[in-house]
Amino acid sequence: MKQLRTLNDLTLPELQTILFEADTCRTSQDRMWGEQPIVANLFFEPSTRTKCSFEMAEKQLGIDIIPFDVSHSSVQKGETLYDTAKTLEAIGCRALIIRHPEMKYYEQLNGLTIPIINAGDGAGDHPTQSLLDLLTIKQEFNRFDGLHVVICGDIRHSRVAHTNAKILKKLGARVSYSGPLEWMDPELTEDEYLTMDEAVVQADVLMLLRIQTERHDGEGGYTKETYHRQFGLTVEREMRMKSDSIIMHPAPVNRGVELAGSLVECRRSRIFKQMTNGVKVRKAILAHVLNLKGEKQYDHVI
Ligand code: CP
Repeated sequence: MKQLRTLNDLTLPELQTILFEADTCRTSQDRMWGEQPIVANLFFEPSTRTKCSFEMAEKQLGIDIIPFDVSHSSVQKGETLYDTAKTLEAIGCRALIIRHPEMKYYEQLNGLTIPIINAGDGAGDHPTQSLLDLLTIKQEFNRFDGLHVVICGDIRHSRVAHTNAKILKKLGARVSYSGPLEWMDPELTEDEYLTMDEAVVQADVLMLLRIQTERHDGEGGYTKETYHRQFGLTVEREMRMKSDSIIMHPAPVNRGVELAGSLVECRRSRIFKQMTNGVKVRKAILAHVLNLKGEKQYDHVI
């Protein structure tokens, strides 16, 4: 067989050989691949950090990736999330990393046997972001108990805020909120609200959030300048922060809105360190989920 345009390119013995080798996995390629873990990253919403750091983690662990581009997939023909994911499981993916605009989308995927890693579900949760945020805070303070974390901005529409608020409180941190009152989360009203001027002098960790305009129903209506002046971290407010407090932001950052552009890389900012930590935690998560411990790939985890 030189090529396969139609089945007329195969002799009947060749056809029978192919069916036999497929059924018994006896090709030389099968022996070469062995149990090499293969995953797919499905991003139904845009991403730079989460997608690229998962890809980096996968490459560093020796995991192969099945490229999956939603815009060129059969999702465009109406295929459901379940059928898409089940297809990738059927062809041999050992885990799926999924970002999807629908909250709790993963509840639709209970029929799969392979693990799902949530890379963000609408305004619901962003567990891998939280883990990298926790690692960044732990590296800085070596504790969570008693630490005052103020989450600032568009709390209601932010999956990062929701996951971080829950886990930080569980770990003993004091969590407060700041930002426009209409963007506070009605489910978090038992927690303390601070103005931005109060937040900057009290916080050990000032966690700023992007305004999630893609999840808004036209509420708010702030200009960049009015938002920055009322709710943002201005250069003047940064000067009033405690000496050892830090600034975090999951990014992407709107420079000049939630914080002044010159503060993105200031001495307090841990924004790019968070991104570096993103690769570390995603390697650890993949190693756990794929049970790579003890296998050659796990040796790469630092
Ligand atoms: N922080 C975060 O989730 O960034 P991306 O949307 O670029 O992945």
